Amino acid sequence: MFAKEGLEGVVAARTSICLIKGAEGAKAALEYRGYSIHDLASHCGFEEVAYLLWYGALPSADELRDFSRLMRANRTLPRRVSRALASILRDLTPIDALRAAVSILAADDLDAADNSPAANVRKGVRLTAQMPSIVGAHHRLAMGLKPLAPDSTLNHAANFLYLVKGKRPRELEARALESAMILEADHGLNPSTFAARVAAGTLADLHSAVVAALATLKGPLHGGAAAQVLAMLHAVGDASNAAGFVRKALAAHARVAGFGHRIYKGDDPRAIDLKRWCERLAGKGDARRRREALKLFDCAKAIEREVRKRVPIAPNVDFYAAPLWSMLGFQPDQFAPVFACARIAGWVAHVAEQHIDNRLIRPEEEYIGPLSRPFIPIEQR
Ligand code: ACO
Repeated sequence: MFAKEGLEGVVAARTSICLIKGAEGAKAALEYRGYSIHDLASHCGFEEVAYLLWYGALPSADELRDFSRLMRANRTLPRRVSRALASILRDLTPIDALRAAVSILAADDLDAADNSPAANVRKGVRLTAQMPSIVGAHHRLAMGLKPLAPDSTLNHAANFLYLVKGKRPRELEARALESAMILEADHGLNPSTFAARVAAGTLADLHSAVVAALATLKGPLHGGAAAQVLAMLHAVGDASNAAGFVRKALAAHARVAGFGHRIYKGDDPRAIDLKRWCERLAGKGDARRRREALKLFDCAKAIEREVRKRVPIAPNVDFYAAPLWSMLGFQPDQFAPVFACARIAGWVAHVAEQHIDNRLIRPEEEYIGPLSRPFIPIEQR
């Protein structure tokens, strides 16, 4: 039986991590372990949601305190990763450097080859704590600056901004990043998580599965889309140009970056929250920053209006993530790594789930090439 192209409609895993409900309608909902992402993004910290994804239950206050301490204690990079970042990895793009650095992290991880549930969580803690340190160090080295030591007084998201920007973020900025990272922490069997589960299905270890996930996230149809959205917003330049841009793009059957989704046929619930965060951030900061942010946001809203007028597709998570990451001071080539620093929580949960109840993932193919050809020796070809 041939599945639709792109495995559409195929159910390839049983999971108790993430549920996407009512994806066909305008009111889709997304839950992690049974909790609405809107509640989690409004009330929880990123560490709390990682705990939920990995342990299946929200932590008590004591459990969260211990867990946050553990995460904070694991942010420093092993020396061989710092050295690699300062030499060969500095010349790679941020997402390529992150992928390579995660491979190198395995070399110092005593649990590297242990696929037990407890070891997967221990490695998950280290990877989640260290990935922002990699992104921050790579950014500063590429700018000719010294990487900063993590700040253990800051929570996960605030420390991430500090490591990249070199100054402690304002509370609203840190909360915006934290909330957005919660919204992006998991999303069922999306391409990068599927890749991670395929790798884990061969009983490859967590680091290997995360490298597969990072390679898959990079593409412009997945985590690479946000950078394309920002490029589009800059190219359009002003809200008044949106109608012409959208009309031309759709007439040429081009894809509008940040729109459409394999699962959601109506609104993507994450995009709704991210749009609200853009709105809150756009009005803040000095006059120049406010002007730039409002222009970007107005342009995004105008593109959304024009697309919706013409075709039944809605913005996906990347559409408003792009202006949000930009308002937070991330560079476009850091958008996919920022996404990865959020999605690592989901990857860890899915790899652990795959390892617990594993069967090799191996679909079949339909062969459409030539058949039974007579072999011709090389001298006669
Ligand atoms: N712009 C214009 N039309 C679109 C878009 C878009 N961005 N996305 C889908 N469509 C249209 C298609 O042309 C097609 O129309 P048709 O049936 O008349 O031919 C219909 O919607 C269905 O599109 P498919 O290609 O079948 O959708 P698929 O599920 O294969 O692809 C994808 C989903 C890759 C996300 C697609 O919507 C796309 O390319 N979007 C732009 C890239 C993007 O934003 N990616 C990020 C996705 S979210 C994430 O991974 C984090």
